Amino acid sequence: MQSGKIGGPMVFVIFGGHGDLTWRKLVPALYSLFLDDWLPDRFEILGIGRKQLSDESYRERLRDGVDKFSPGKADPNKWTEFSSHINFRTADLEDKQAFAGIAEELGTYDEKWGTKATRIYYLALPPQMIKPVAEGLAAAKLNLDREYARIVVEKPFGHDLNSARELNVLLSNYFQESQIFRIDHYLGKETVQNIIAFRFGNTLFEPIWNRRYIDHVQITVAEKDGVGHRSGYYEHAGALRDMVQNHLLQILCLIAMEAPVSVNSDEIRQKKVDVLRAIRTILPEQVHQSAVRGQYGPGWIEGERVRGYRAEEGVAPDSPTETFAAVKFYVDNWRWQDVPFYLRTGKRMPSTVSEVAIQFRPVPHQTFPASALLDNRPNRLLIAIQPEEGILLRFEVKHPGQHMALAPVMMQFYYREAFKVRSPEAYETLLLDIMRGDSTLFMRADQTEAAWAVIEPILDMWQSVGPTDFPNYEAGTWGPEQADVLIAQDGRSWIMPTLLQCQEDLAKCRLAREQS
Ligand code: BG6
Repeated sequence: MQSGKIGGPMVFVIFGGHGDLTWRKLVPALYSLFLDDWLPDRFEILGIGRKQLSDESYRERLRDGVDKFSPGKADPNKWTEFSSHINFRTADLEDKQAFAGIAEELGTYDEKWGTKATRIYYLALPPQMIKPVAEGLAAAKLNLDREYARIVVEKPFGHDLNSARELNVLLSNYFQESQIFRIDHYLGKETVQNIIAFRFGNTLFEPIWNRRYIDHVQITVAEKDGVGHRSGYYEHAGALRDMVQNHLLQILCLIAMEAPVSVNSDEIRQKKVDVLRAIRTILPEQVHQSAVRGQYGPGWIEGERVRGYRAEEGVAPDSPTETFAAVKFYVDNWRWQDVPFYLRTGKRMPSTVSEVAIQFRPVPHQTFPASALLDNRPNRLLIAIQPEEGILLRFEVKHPGQHMALAPVMMQFYYREAFKVRSPEAYETLLLDIMRGDSTLFMRADQTEAAWAVIEPILDMWQSVGPTDFPNYEAGTWGPEQADVLIAQDGRSWIMPTLLQCQEDLAKCRLAREQS
């Protein structure tokens, strides 16, 4: 990453300082920013949690996270320098007095530095804690300075439209919209941001980026992992809330949005909200045709037997929670009328892969005889988001030989080959933007609500009519058969992610199943 240090002093106050997110994502990202010389000379990281912990043992735990989750292990000298800026304070966040103590401590930094520091209040906490912390900050007047005080809220942002509205009202009671940073970490991913660069930095694709040329769009976000230790949260969330409402809809917005006038944060966010508002409402009687849910049963991942969701720690033996969701959306506007957007996401799939596939229409008139078209395929553009980051374009060429025959080929661009530099982790990008006060990659209040409104009819229907066939897909497969039916009823099929790694993973799952 190129350098460009942040100027003024900065204090990160991490509520939930002892939690998983801080250990796994936030501090490794801050450490990388420190190594790349982005952090200001004067900064402090203040972890706040319930535990009784010395600064030393807190730093040790965080170092373990950096060793595990950063690109390389912590360098001893650099770590000593970095960690001298880290401290831990024990506090009960439901006690308003605790915030007076935090305010006092923050005051000492300003005094020491002889100037006002930017204060970032990061809520790495379960959703029910947002209210007491926002109120605590306000009671201690830590919210007042519009320019210097910022609050960061993680997803899930509410659990339905009403609760998201309530949360927005609560936050807006104490903070201005410009002070609030609602995180969807997918927006920090390099390839997700690249969708904007690719679409609006080229003349080539924009003229064909519409219903006249595009047949349909598929967005797949698949994960090999199961629910892990997160059943407490996941049991109340499910795949639709956990992934579709935020990450997948964000990607859809970037693919479908109109060209912004500039990369100004409000301009881009407005264009995304326009997309969400244009998504056709799914009526209750259409839910079964437009959305499919699934839950994994036991199966095989990378040659290893894994248990089903209902046998995971902390999961009810008759849990109705979906671990897979596939949904078909339409965006009702001039550009996209009647072009389906198929979204699917699931846990315990054969591979961890996120990809967008844009399938173009067949040529309007076929010039070639049937004998030349045995291997004829429509043009396809693939945007690989992870684990590989790149863009692939499939088109037809003449197969070499004395006969005219068409054959598909793939033109490929991979970030790692083209640039040979490390792409920053999503959290590095997002934390840096928070420090700069740039909210382009964060969700505006109305956007979170619009996204809930899009999925609410499905949530309501799924809640009122429980699943009867769970578990309905085997771990290590691409989801329930009904997901194939969802797309097959339109005469289409799911596009297999192209990446080699993905195909190897799939082969391993198949082999293990056959040998069992
Ligand atoms: C989180 C979800 O927001 O995103 C998780 O809560 C999911 O369930 C994760 O595993 C996926 O993120 P990534 O960056 O690993 O694709």
